[in-house]
Amino acid sequence: MSVLRPKVELHCHVEGAAFPALVQRVAARNGIDLPGLFDAEGQFLWHDFSSFLGAYDQASAVFRTPEDFRDLTFTHFTSIAAEGAIYGEVFISVDHGFASGLSYADYVGGLAQGILDAEAETSIVGRMVATGVRHFGPDRVRAAAEIAANEPHPLVTGFGVAGDERMHHPRDFIDAFRIAGEAGLGLTAHAGELCGPESVRAALDHLNISRIGHGVRAIEDPALVERIVSEGVVLELCPGSNVALGLYPDIASHPFRRLMEAGVRVTVSSDDPPYFGSSIGAEYEWLEHDQQFDEAEFAQINRTAVEAAFVDEATRSRLL
Ligand code: ADE
Ligand code: ZN
Repeated sequence: MSVLRPKVELHCHVEGAAFPALVQRVAARNGIDLPGLFDAEGQFLWHDFSSFLGAYDQASAVFRTPEDFRDLTFTHFTSIAAEGAIYGEVFISVDHGFASGLSYADYVGGLAQGILDAEAETSIVGRMVATGVRHFGPDRVRAAAEIAANEPHPLVTGFGVAGDERMHHPRDFIDAFRIAGEAGLGLTAHAGELCGPESVRAALDHLNISRIGHGVRAIEDPALVERIVSEGVVLELCPGSNVALGLYPDIASHPFRRLMEAGVRVTVSSDDPPYFGSSIGAEYEWLEHDQQFDEAEFAQINRTAVEAAFVDEATRSRLL
């Protein structure tokens, strides 16, 4: 059964992986009220990308201590391990860490403890990708890169930018990505999710990235697809997220298979599971049932994800 199929996930936001039950438990522990965050069924309340970001910020704000962040990664990594994941990367948010009142070292330290505790319990291997938030502006994204570069942590192996792609131009983030790249961090940027092919092309032109967060809308421009194939850039595709945000009506219409058959190096991830009704296990099941992916194709997707992972070569060889 697909539950036991080994899985590799490259694109999941750690604050966006906090399920309502954990958010409520940590909020109670810290004496925080959450007005308007949940619907009648206890799910996060949002209706478009902007209100999703608002709910995400409100839920993230309950995490205040290193122990809170330890519980967040421990819960996430043990839960994806139970779905068969053997390796996962999470996007951590330097600015959300600061908003919690913690230093970068305490934020990362708490998150790292949860990853190591989950590895001790389940053998899952985890790494973190420090991100800046695009709509917070180039200065804060650059500051995020500087702190990730200047305060290295062995489990923080990448740098990226997430947030509202409609704001700012990739050229505004050249410094941030140069700083992170020079520090030896792997580079990825969200693009081609809310905006079209021009956004993907600009990210490739300016940011020296080996992976694109989403990048799915490259499918709208055959010449760009050819470029992605020839440059070997890896797409972190998140079909469930794309459907939840209304990019495609359903998984069957998602261009996942078309991109793979065009020769693009594709991977599959959940993005923000409790918001989008996704999970790494569900993504594999959807691909199996709605796009007829078979074992050989899943093996190829996993191999691509391990090859593209921001991880040391010894660990990569173990995972391959
Ligand atoms: N931050 C968290 N989830 C995101 C998404 N799907 N796109 C951009 N930024 C995000
Ligand atoms: Zn994302």
